Amino acid sequence: MSSTTICYHILSPKRIRPINFDLVLHPDSITPRKGRTSVSFTMFSRFARQTAQKGQSFKRFASSSTTAGAKPSLVTPILATTVALGSALAYTATYGGLSANSPAENGLHPAAYPWSHNGMLQGFDHSSIRRGYQVYREVCAACHSLDRIAWRNLVGVSHTTTEAKAMAEEHEYTDGPDDNGDMFERPGKLADYMPRPYPNDEAARAGNQGALPPDLSLMVKARHGGADYIFALLTGYCDPPAGVQVPEGMNYNPYFPGGQIAMARVLYDGLVEYDDGTPATTSQMAKDVVTFLNWAAEPELDQRKKMGMQVLVILTGLWALSVWKKRFVWSTLKTRKIAYIPPKEVRAEFKEVDQRMKMKERRLHLSENCTKNGREGEGEVMISHLCK
Ligand code: HEC
Repeated sequence: MSSTTICYHILSPKRIRPINFDLVLHPDSITPRKGRTSVSFTMFSRFARQTAQKGQSFKRFASSSTTAGAKPSLVTPILATTVALGSALAYTATYGGLSANSPAENGLHPAAYPWSHNGMLQGFDHSSIRRGYQVYREVCAACHSLDRIAWRNLVGVSHTTTEAKAMAEEHEYTDGPDDNGDMFERPGKLADYMPRPYPNDEAARAGNQGALPPDLSLMVKARHGGADYIFALLTGYCDPPAGVQVPEGMNYNPYFPGGQIAMARVLYDGLVEYDDGTPATTSQMAKDVVTFLNWAAEPELDQRKKMGMQVLVILTGLWALSVWKKRFVWSTLKTRKIAYIPPKEVRAEFKEVDQRMKMKERRLHLSENCTKNGREGEGEVMISHLCK
């Protein structure tokens, strides 16, 4: 058993402290192999001592030599490749890639607009939500419901409590039954949900030539492209290109899948009059109503981003702490230097082998030199002289 000195330091080099560690040679670890001597050793003192007691060999753990001759099996890579290719093929067969979709069938891809709430640290533009509600109320609410939004949801987001209450009271709601068992009408309260334009889907279809104006509460989340898509849809109405037949009651819009939508263009410059004096252009109204619909679909967005930032800050701190702590825990292992001093007999054996190798080299060198100079055979004489 030999002993070796290990230095470790953490963070500051001032803290360098030497520790003594035992280096234990495993009895099984000197393994003669064909043509060479391979020496392996286990290094963790307590670990090695325990292992030695159990009489187990840890050759694989610490040896630097590899087992020769054993070919790696090909079964696993072939199996893995087959499974990967198979699942890729199954996916393509199930979800398309081979289908004959064209851009017209999927609708034109909308541009990516710089929404004010897109960034990691950006929340909704609440004045825009307020204007957007006005556009929804004055334009879209004639056909589209907004089932998941109650009047109270607007409070503190786009309107004050008084404003929201006043707006709710403008609508009549059926309530009851009263003491006589009769239903009655009453003005809306903050807790009521936004009234629907049609009593049911059938009435909605009947009022729109068979097409159902979908509920807009979650529309931003329900469509590929989200806010960008709805903005593009509302502002994308144009004349159909040559050769495209648009049936009666349909409208050409390249952003709608199929290119033809039952909803006509609804936004025109100056359609609404904003309280805050913003010019009501088509694109301004589209932007505002989409911001409002985005809020309706993700009312938690502001809170979520705020909390996300807090989580990031806290986790970064904890991560840094854990890295710091890890350096303490691992320092003894990461900064140790292990020196191996073989036992006497092994050293002697090495020396002998070394000398024999050197002799062989010299002999070769000499005889080569002699042959080169035309003094063949003289090398051997010199060597026998040298070896004496
Ligand atoms: C005159 C009734 C009417 C008005 C007003 C109206 N829509 Fe529509 N809307 C429809 C109908 C009908 C459809 C169904 C279209 C279809 O399926 O072809 C529709 C569909 C939609 C869709 C779904 C498109 C899709 O990908 O399925 C969105 C989004 C939409 N409208 C937004 C709006 C917005 C925003 C407003 C207000 C600015 C509005 N609509 C005003 C009748 C209307």
